[in-house]
Amino acid sequence: MRPLPGRIFGPVPRDLTDASWRRFFEKGDRMKAKVCTTRELTNNTMKSFDIEGEPVLVANVNGKYYSIADTCSHAMAYLSEGELLEDCQVQCPDHAAIFDLRTGEATALPAVSPVETFKVIVEGDDIFVETGTR
Ligand code: FES
Repeated sequence: MRPLPGRIFGPVPRDLTDASWRRFFEKGDRMKAKVCTTRELTNNTMKSFDIEGEPVLVANVNGKYYSIADTCSHAMAYLSEGELLEDCQVQCPDHAAIFDLRTGEATALPAVSPVETFKVIVEGDDIFVETGTR
């Protein structure tokens, strides 16, 4: 039987304990996507980008970059259309839930579930988001 392409299954964990398989499948394939340049995302602004069909919010808060899923966990509004608040918080435009950009945690009702966070990588002037990571 021919081996399946590695890009579908990614690297196989060394040990085959339940925990390692759970981490392997939960993490999924990593993908690094360029979203914009540092000049296009000025200080204390946020923008939405489409990565493989998924809306992803990237914010520049005092020169530090953060990325979360751009879909509110309450009723699916685009968080990037909301307001960037102090202390790395973003407020949903629909019902005013608040999320922490650093952790994805919902910090104000009506949302109670977190949104996914993504790693942001800056290389020179380019900003990349790595999905499939936490
Ligand atoms: S859709 Fe975001 S708080 Fe309701």
